[in-house]
This record gives sequence, C-alpha cells and structure tokens, in this order.
Amino acid sequence: MLVNMRDLLAAAKDGNYAVGSFSVANMEMVLGVLKAAAELKAPVILQIAEVRLKQSPLELIGPLMVAAAENAETPVAVHFDHGKTLEKISLALDLGFTSVMFDGSHLPLEENIAQTKKTVMLAADYDAAVEGEIGCVGGSEDGSEDIAINCTRPRDAVRFAQETGVDALAIAIGNAHGNYKSTPKLRFDILESCAESVEVPLVLHGGTGIRPEDFVRCSKTGIKKINIATATFDAVEKSVRTCYNRNAVQGYYDLQSAEVEGAYENAKRHILIFGSDNKA
Ligand code: 13P
Repeated sequence: MLVNMRDLLAAAKDGNYAVGSFSVANMEMVLGVLKAAAELKAPVILQIAEVRLKQSPLELIGPLMVAAAENAETPVAVHFDHGKTLEKISLALDLGFTSVMFDGSHLPLEENIAQTKKTVMLAADYDAAVEGEIGCVGGSEDGSEDIAINCTRPRDAVRFAQETGVDALAIAIGNAHGNYKSTPKLRFDILESCAESVEVPLVLHGGTGIRPEDFVRCSKTGIKKINIATATFDAVEKSVRTCYNRNAVQGYYDLQSAEVEGAYENAKRHILIFGSDNKA
C-alpha cells in the first residue's frame, strides 16, 4: 500500500532499523524491489532522482511507481530523490509521490535553508514528507560530476532541521554516490553527534559499496533511510549479462525476467542487512 515516508521512518526509529530506498529506472526494477519487499514482509521506498528523468520521464515512470506502491503487499513510500527544481518537485507531488527531496547541499547554508523551506511549504499542501541535505555527499547521482565530500557540521544540521522543518535529513559522513574507489571510511563520530542533537530521522546516501557492518552501525545510530542506486543498476546489468553468457535468453521475456531478478536479489540483500524484514 502507498504510505507517507514520514510514517515509514517513524516506525523504523521505533524498531531500530533502516528502510531501503531503492532507485528505479523502469518497470522491471519496480517489480524486482516489490517482489523482495513482499517476500521479506518489508516496508520499502521507491525513488527516482531528477537527473535520471532524461532516461525515465517523470510523467511516465511516476504514475507507474505510485500504482505499484498502491498495489503492493507491504507499505511503500514513493520518493522524488535529489530534487533540483520546484517545477519537477511540484510535478512529483501532483503525481502522488508521498515524499520529495530538495537538494540544496551545494548552496550556502542560508540559501539551502530558504530553498528547502519553500519545498516544505509546497509539500504541506499534499501532506507529503520532505528530505533535505546538509553537507556534501561525494560523487554525483549520475556520475557526471565528482563532487568532493564535505562532511556535515553537526551544528549546521541542528539549525537546518529546526529552521526548515524537514521530515528527513541527509548528512555527509564520508559517503559518496556511485562505486567507491576504495572502501569508504565513514565518520561515525559525526553521525553520532548528529544523531544525538537532531530529532529528525537521518538519511544515508551513496549506499552502494558500504560494508554490511557499517550499514548496521548506521541503522542503529540514527540513519533510518538508506539510498541504493548504483548497486541496483549494476545488479540488473549483471543479471542480464549472466543470462546471455549462459545462453539463457531465448527471447525478450527471458531478458525481462533477468532484469526483475537482478533488482530483486539486490533489494533482498540490502533489506536483510538493514533489518527491515518482517517489519511490514
Ligand atoms: P549509490 O548510487 O551510491 O547507491 O547512491 C544512491 C543515492 O544516494 C541516491 O540518492
């Protein structure tokens, strides 16, 4: 069933686990994630980032994501990831997304607060949740830029959360989008400090390549939403390649099953690490 992301994250806080937020690009990925969620009785979040709309137009994939959530066996929130423009954020809200992110992490703090507040006011009309970001997660969502990591200053996180009224706050603790060049060393000191001083659930971006033990530690230290994108795309591509290598593709629908399977296996693996299984 389609739910508000606020409720999913509140339950995760009570239950001391994190919810997987899986980026999707097509129907097969949506089906794979929801198959894992149903099997493991897990709440999940389906998301798409604004930079990915050139491949998957929001007008088309948005209604698919919302309909899939409405028909899902477990609670599913539909989230607009890394919103850059109020135009696309508004469109996501009009389409029924139950959560939107405004990513002002590249802006000076004051400007980030002001722009995020506008998103909070807009989303209030739809009773949708809002995620903001403070500090800079490294890399970039679509690999087009290599943004330097700028770890969150806990006192900025406190101010940002208070002044914007966001429902979820993405912080930077040494995490980066895309595949890491070496194993990331997360700054748990910063995470602990943010978790102690900020009430709102925290979000970890750049989930691909983070070690399972670090995920678990994050999920027990204030992180209630973990974003996974590259790992899904890689898993789907690898699943298709494996099928071709095994001569198991006789026609289009074998290819389609391989895509669903790749997304399913990836979501299943992460749900089990995040501890969100049997929480639906
Ligand atoms: P990865 O591509 O590193 O998994 O990051 C996902 C993400 O943070 C999406 O916002």
